[in-house]
Amino acid sequence: MPQHSHSARRSWWSRRMPGSSATLNTSLLLLAALASPSAAQTTTAFTDQETGIQFQRFFGAKSGFGFGIALPTAPSTSFIGQLTFPLARGAGWGGFSLTGDMEGPLLMAAWPDGAGGIVSSFRQAANEDDNPPEVSGGFAVRPIAAATSVNATFLSYTFLCEGCLDASLGLSAAETAGAAVEMGWALGSRAVGNQASTAAVLNFHNVGFGDFKANLAAARSAEFDTWAALAGDALAPGAGAQPFSGGGGGGGDGGFDSGDEDDGGNDSDDDD
Ligand code: HEM
Repeated sequence: MPQHSHSARRSWWSRRMPGSSATLNTSLLLLAALASPSAAQTTTAFTDQETGIQFQRFFGAKSGFGFGIALPTAPSTSFIGQLTFPLARGAGWGGFSLTGDMEGPLLMAAWPDGAGGIVSSFRQAANEDDNPPEVSGGFAVRPIAAATSVNATFLSYTFLCEGCLDASLGLSAAETAGAAVEMGWALGSRAVGNQASTAAVLNFHNVGFGDFKANLAAARSAEFDTWAALAGDALAPGAGAQPFSGGGGGGGDGGFDSGDEDDGGNDSDDDD
């Protein structure tokens, strides 16, 4: 997985934050905070207010992007997911990756349809240059309406991701029995092309993207089946969806990535 370089940041602080001892202490604390998460940010417990579903959630304080995951106690090919993210005057999209990578694994993205609803589709990227095309396979999304909503400034999409866990997709059911895995997220604030279509053209995730550590041990719940029963019908993929091409979760080329904890992005919102 990509490692962030913290050494540049350290010298930046030490050069600009000499000052009084109080300032120095503050800067040392900041340093520690910035330097310690050399690994990806880990999910924390989050309970959805509408449904009571208990997620393990990655939340980017700067981007406002959240992705939550809930699992049954015994490994299964399904999980409950929740994407929550701000929109820029009704525009933007957010998504997750089953691994920390963009290329290869099963991706899913959601965005406003422009008519008060939400469109989502599964994607698979063959490269990092093009809009990843829509794919279909033995997986399906079943929205949980009670915790799904969209307005001009925010989108919440809660769903049962059925058949989404398989080794060929990047994350197997068996792997979810482990303690933690790496997953990925992405958020764009520009309008998508052809937004009413599952094949909408997603622009680059200009707000942020990266990987995070999903604490799966804490994501498992005996209440999973009760929550999963809230899900509606499976959404059909678009007519142009290509079959998912299996073979693992992509190469993981270890390229640079701008995790939300980084200061590199152009986020202008909260910093806490
Ligand atoms: C037009 C659409 C997209 C473009 C042009 C694009 C482009 C890129 C590029 C250039 C990187 C790598 C940056 C680097 O290595 O420095 C990247 C990374 C990433 N992208 Fe995308 N992306 C797109 C859509 C998506 C979608 C739909 C998702 C998920 C739903 C996604 C998830 C990720 C993740 C998790 C990473 C970080 C891990 C990695 O580097 O593979 N991307 N993307």
